[in-house]
Amino acid sequence: MNPQGAILNVNLAGLALRNPVILAAGTCGYLDEMNDVIDLARVGAVVTKSITRLPRDGNATWRIIETRSGMMNAIGLANVGVEAFARDLAPRIASTPATVIGSIAGFSIDDYVAVAAAMDDCDAIHAVEINVSCPNVHGGTEFGADPRALAELVRALRPVLSRARLFVKLSPIANGPLAIKDVAKAAIDAGAQPAGPNSRPGADAICLANTMPAMAIDVHTCRPRLANITGGLSGPAVHPIAVKLVHDCYRAVAKDSATPIIGIGGVLTWQDAAEFILAGATAVEMGTALFVDPRSPLNVVAGLEKWARAQGAASITELVGGVKLE
Ligand SMILES: Cc1cc2nc3c(=O)[nH]c(=O)nc-3n(C[C@H](O)[C@H](O)[C@H](O)COP(=O)(O)O)c2cc1C
Repeated sequence: MNPQGAILNVNLAGLALRNPVILAAGTCGYLDEMNDVIDLARVGAVVTKSITRLPRDGNATWRIIETRSGMMNAIGLANVGVEAFARDLAPRIASTPATVIGSIAGFSIDDYVAVAAAMDDCDAIHAVEINVSCPNVHGGTEFGADPRALAELVRALRPVLSRARLFVKLSPIANGPLAIKDVAKAAIDAGAQPAGPNSRPGADAICLANTMPAMAIDVHTCRPRLANITGGLSGPAVHPIAVKLVHDCYRAVAKDSATPIIGIGGVLTWQDAAEFILAGATAVEMGTALFVDPRSPLNVVAGLEKWARAQGAASITELVGGVKLE
């Protein structure tokens, strides 16, 4: 029998995590701030706030509101910018008791490349997650909504990542005529020049998904509830949408190319995380849950361990993609 806890060990494109529960970008401070309320040594990894090339104040308030079965945000990528990140925050990564994944946002390929190069220089960052739910200043649409622009972005990023793995975090909007498999395939098969012998020609992992574009209106003032007018919906309301995205992506492209998927959206309980795993995710991220109960990731870790044992698995990875369809 596996020693206590080892049953939950997972491997994300060579990045070994003690368990598959990750704190999501933008919901747990910049880095290690959550360590005051939850022992980060007991989660799989922490994703930083998305860092941009230049500092950003973000949108006007209100920029976070509660909705039925979730929350909406339009933070507008408020952050200190990559220079201050590298100078003031990166030195803390080595003493952060969880694996740290750097999140990157940008409005042009050059933006992403500049931040990725700076993060790759930080020895303690073993993976970067690129947030492609940002409008491309050149093309107008999001990188994540345009398979060609996304492949071009991945091709430009690959050569600057000599150490850090490349995780691509997609938007859930590719759930209709633009199928998630096409966007994920563009990222996985980008055809980039690998930086080293172990690196791939495209994304090392696919993260599904970011928040769902949404809007809420105050019927008394007749004004949008977010100053930005629209925002991104997260929490339980988006969970079944994200499960379908993971299922579709796993079956169509990720399984055959052995590309791990990270399931993101509405994980509040271990059952939500287990659903993602059965749909094809190797790990999950938790965001909105941290606003409800910042310690809830520990309950998810404990629940997943019991579940994996009850399913008779020696490793939780045996359950990835295990949904029974007949
Ligand atoms: C307040 C807030 C801020 C967020 N900031 C970021 C961010 O900076 N970068 C990013 O990629 N995702 C960001 N997200 C999206 C989350 O990382 C996650 O993809 C999304 O909330 C869905 O997961 P959840 O339902 O568990 O919250 C943010 C979400 C919230 C609620």
